[in-house]
Amino acid sequence: MTSSLGSPLTGTIRVPGDKSISHRSLMFGALAVGRTTVKGLLESEDVLATADAMRAVGATITKLEDGSYTVDGIGLGSLLEPEHVIDFGNAGTGVRLTMGIFGSHNIAATFVGDASLSKRPMGRVLNPLRDMGTNVIARDGDRLPASIRGPEQALPITYRVPMPSAQVKSAVLLAGLNAAGETTVIEPIPTRDHTEKMLKGFGADISVTVNEAGERVIKLQGQPELKPQDIDVPGDPSSAGFPLVAALIVPGSDVVIENVLLNEHRTGLITTLIEMGGDISIVNRRETGGEEVGDLHVKASKLKGITVPADRAPSMIDEYPVLAIAAAFAEGDTFMPGLEELRVKESDRLAAVARGLEANGIPCVETADTLTVTGGADAIGGGTVVTHLDHRIAMSFLVLGMAAHKPVTVDDGAVIATSFPTFTGLFDGLGAKISANTSEAA
Ligand code: S3P
Repeated sequence: MTSSLGSPLTGTIRVPGDKSISHRSLMFGALAVGRTTVKGLLESEDVLATADAMRAVGATITKLEDGSYTVDGIGLGSLLEPEHVIDFGNAGTGVRLTMGIFGSHNIAATFVGDASLSKRPMGRVLNPLRDMGTNVIARDGDRLPASIRGPEQALPITYRVPMPSAQVKSAVLLAGLNAAGETTVIEPIPTRDHTEKMLKGFGADISVTVNEAGERVIKLQGQPELKPQDIDVPGDPSSAGFPLVAALIVPGSDVVIENVLLNEHRTGLITTLIEMGGDISIVNRRETGGEEVGDLHVKASKLKGITVPADRAPSMIDEYPVLAIAAAFAEGDTFMPGLEELRVKESDRLAAVARGLEANGIPCVETADTLTVTGGADAIGGGTVVTHLDHRIAMSFLVLGMAAHKPVTVDDGAVIATSFPTFTGLFDGLGAKISANTSEAA
């Protein structure tokens, strides 16, 4: 796909439902007894893989005529053994949280994924599961394909999450749901809290406190009866990041993005762009289903480079690729420390971003865990970016092309369907120029 400079971006849009909440709605609905309804589910490849995984253990998931979904749960402790291999495609959240759920049930399951997912570390989830009594056979380095068999009775554990990861925290808590007794997760660095909030909504006995060391301590009582919920999934702030940055950097743009999730663990990009001088106002703030949402009104702005505090990284961990694009249009350097987790995302995102910037004439310096982007270079664009099966690399560099001097090409546009299947349609509606290069497909 190629994008190029067009007219200003204008209009009012809605981005698809939040990916984190969508995965969890299907999972927790499957573990409840009764019918959960989900409005605004993200219908992306990742989330649909989770739906298939929940069907494989006995849940019934149906799309209704109005576009909403019902999930008829099988009930915690009653999961059936899947009759086939579970293919999670590109979905890290899907596979890691599902390993947590299945891992404390006395069933066997085998997980596979695409080339990207098969490179990613699974030990961060498999190790605490081993502590709970799960048997694991995985490829070297705890990579997929992997098979697990849960014990007859899983042991509750106390686990300090060794890296800032909502997926690891969530996998341990979800395994703890089917362990007899109290599971404790200690989180030294706070990450997105959708699992804690939503499990409470589903009726689990879960508490969060902060200890003397300032760490979050999450205690979950095992074997609750989860009650079905009616869920309205708000717009994904990570997806909103693309039109947000595009509107800031395409001259003359004026865009409203409605109904965006504003959970405090997800808004680091908005805070950062405002600090860089972005004209972003949050209007119509309201609460739905225990989460804050609002509309983002964004206008093209003159940006300046800043240092992004390292401790902000967990609240914008998926947004660094698109922030790097904003930084290319800012005056001076933007310094982004604390990025070690970017090395183990859908691609080595730190390297993928740096190579993409270089291919388009944007000066940057990459270290083991930092990125510095120097903005304001002349004649940027014109490059072809290798996406490495990473949806956010593809979308970020298409945003670059919308404001660069020369068009920007990404080698694989199909991967966008992982998280944001309406990406090109929404951007077309705003006036962006994105085209598919079918002639090069062979
Ligand atoms: C997610 C957690 C994050 C994030 C991912 C979604 C979640 O991953 O990158 O896109 O829904 O829990 P990590 O836990 O690996 O940081």
